[in-house]
Amino acid sequence: MDNFQFLNYNGENLLKLDLSDFGIQEANFSIYLDYLHHPYLGGNKIRKLYGWLMRLDKSRNSTLISVSGNSSNYAFALAHLPQYFPLNICLIIRGHKPKVFHETLRNLIDLGTSLHFYSNQEIDSNLNSILAQLQEQYKNPLFIAEYGKNPYLNEGFESLFIENSPFLHADYIFCPVGSGATFEALKTYISPDQKLIGVSSFDSFSYHPYLLENEIWLNSLSRFGGFHPEIYKIMNLFLERYKLPLDPIYTAKMIWEVINAYRLNKIPVSKSVIALHTGGLQGIPVWKTRHNKKIQQIYA
Ligand SMILES: Cc1ncc(COP(=O)(O)O)c(C=O)c1O
Repeated sequence: MDNFQFLNYNGENLLKLDLSDFGIQEANFSIYLDYLHHPYLGGNKIRKLYGWLMRLDKSRNSTLISVSGNSSNYAFALAHLPQYFPLNICLIIRGHKPKVFHETLRNLIDLGTSLHFYSNQEIDSNLNSILAQLQEQYKNPLFIAEYGKNPYLNEGFESLFIENSPFLHADYIFCPVGSGATFEALKTYISPDQKLIGVSSFDSFSYHPYLLENEIWLNSLSRFGGFHPEIYKIMNLFLERYKLPLDPIYTAKMIWEVINAYRLNKIPVSKSVIALHTGGLQGIPVWKTRHNKKIQQIYA
């Protein structure tokens, strides 16, 4: 794990897709399956943490405290870090402690992660006092902000732009946006004649007003984590047509907006486009269970 070679651009993970099933002919479109580089560390999650992990004092055991949603791929990636680094993981989880734990929460528990549940309001208004309490309980506590935001988060994305990588000359690069950290990191590596477009998992800028300053599109399908029949449909179409899983929170929304942009001629088919698939797949069953009634209605 020390050299992180697996983060280097790997041509085997770039898949050129024929979008003619979607009525788009001869598009120069590829998707980069970044989640394939590691079974657990989750596409952009380990890229965001790379610089921080490189600076970690590996001679002593520490507790890494962070904040996450209750079915988040970030939490899932963090929970696997103790297999590779001298870390214990302690997570401040948004929302009430559920009576029954879903797959992701069960995974976290099985991996030895300590979970502390607080309401969104408590976390947003009182994070410092929550942290102060937890920091007293754990040995050598360290903190990383929600979504893995840290001062070194760009560094793990540099290896996508190594010599001969198509990321160096793609006309358009698309990435999903949650906190915008991945977008910000990619922005440092693209050249002025390339266009980086983020697709937000949110449908309103009221959550992230600062994103307005960038080339970030709101998704037109649902709020964060919400349901829309088009999300479900595109997930199924991609699985059937390309054997490619998309997650409902980030990557399905991104791909739907890319296809829509082709249809509206916002992207010329002649231009080369790469969409970054950031993973998130462990959350699919949780989302499906959460929206089971609405999924059933599609077939009613
Ligand atoms: C699968 C997936 N894609 C995209 C994102 C959004 O990343 P960011 O918060 O860096 O915008 C996340 C969140 O970490 C994620 O789990």
